[in-house]
Amino acid sequence: MFADTVIQNLSQIFVPNAIERPLRGSEMSQVNLITNGYIAIKDGKILKIASGKPNDSLINELTQVIEGDNKLATPGLIDCHTHLVYGGSRENEFSKKLNNVDYLDILKSGGGILSTVKATRKASFEELYQKSKQLLDKMLLHGVTSIEAKSGYGLNWETESRQLEVVKALNENHPINIVSTFMAAHAVPPEFKDRSDDFIDFIILEMLPKVKSKNLAEFCDIFCEYGVFSAEQSYRLLEAAKKLNFKLKIHTDEIKTIGGVDVASALHVTSAEHLMKITELGIKQLSEKEIIGNLLPGTTFSLMEKNYAPAREMLREGMAITLSTDSNPGSCPTANLQFIMQLGCFNMKLTPIEVFNAVTINAAYSINRGGTLGDFEVGSPADIVIFDAPNIDYAMYFFATNLVSDVFKEGKRVV
Ligand code: NIG
Ligand code: FE
Repeated sequence: MFADTVIQNLSQIFVPNAIERPLRGSEMSQVNLITNGYIAIKDGKILKIASGKPNDSLINELTQVIEGDNKLATPGLIDCHTHLVYGGSRENEFSKKLNNVDYLDILKSGGGILSTVKATRKASFEELYQKSKQLLDKMLLHGVTSIEAKSGYGLNWETESRQLEVVKALNENHPINIVSTFMAAHAVPPEFKDRSDDFIDFIILEMLPKVKSKNLAEFCDIFCEYGVFSAEQSYRLLEAAKKLNFKLKIHTDEIKTIGGVDVASALHVTSAEHLMKITELGIKQLSEKEIIGNLLPGTTFSLMEKNYAPAREMLREGMAITLSTDSNPGSCPTANLQFIMQLGCFNMKLTPIEVFNAVTINAAYSINRGGTLGDFEVGSPADIVIFDAPNIDYAMYFFATNLVSDVFKEGKRVV
């Protein structure tokens, strides 16, 4: 069979070990690294990946041959935790943070997430669409071909549903695939001040069923944190979401440890996210239940915290981990997943192989796309990133610079 496109003379190709589940513990340091090879694409899918030159059985006069120029190719990067859609921005909090004002204290005084809620409630569909599209365009330039996007800056039906509709429209019109997560339980809105239990009831009774019937989200998430939502409230919401067939995620152990990991393991969520303050016992619990740990070193960096999530301990206990930006206007304003991956190396001591597995094959499983996205198996969508780097070590070592030169989505050049 002839290829539609061949990318040849690639110095290194990162082919994840596709084992029909996320890679756990020491499996995360395994990969098939092909040197001096090519990628052949047919009908938007991977046809063949091998070392050497493509032979005549692959190329005819219709095949487009692209020079890889001795660069690195990897599967399209997957940013599996973002808060994509919001109004306004929060650079006004920066000087407070530099003066050591606490993130949760900013929220308590009506700032933080709640100030973004105000701006998002005011923004029209079109304004949110355009703003989010610009952020997606930047992510694509950095090699990201799929993301997860959470709502959670509306906290009422009108604005939560507008955020989710924006995600739906962008998923249909932008090259980046988006998996949608409903996260109205992100903060307690002013209308429910000091009545967080009532707000959880409101989400369960009024919002969840509508999100489901309109098919606006695949996952449900909650911010389980001291002063935000308790473990008991998190259990109640996620249990109700599970009954409606949502898949589950939980923001937990970010700032304080208040029992979110127990909720995660009791309800068997797909991924537990943040985990900066997870305990040894917590790591054991997640490992035992095969729950993916989603780590967000850009948030640690941006909140100017010293302690990063204990990634090496998690791998030692056999956990599967992913890395993402957490892209949001408050605790991690960025579109650059490469920098986050580099923080994973520099501050969590992950190796480049572990990091690339975290943002490809494992990230795909964490958004329920394992077995299709995030690998280079024959027949998988040809989502490909070319880095202006000879190998993955260079791509992580040469930091804070966008090294992506080309991006292909389902075989078509998009960068
Ligand atoms: O994942 N932790 C809670 N939510 C976001 C921050 C959102 C914001 O500050 O606007 C996070 O870090
Ligand atoms: Fe988040």
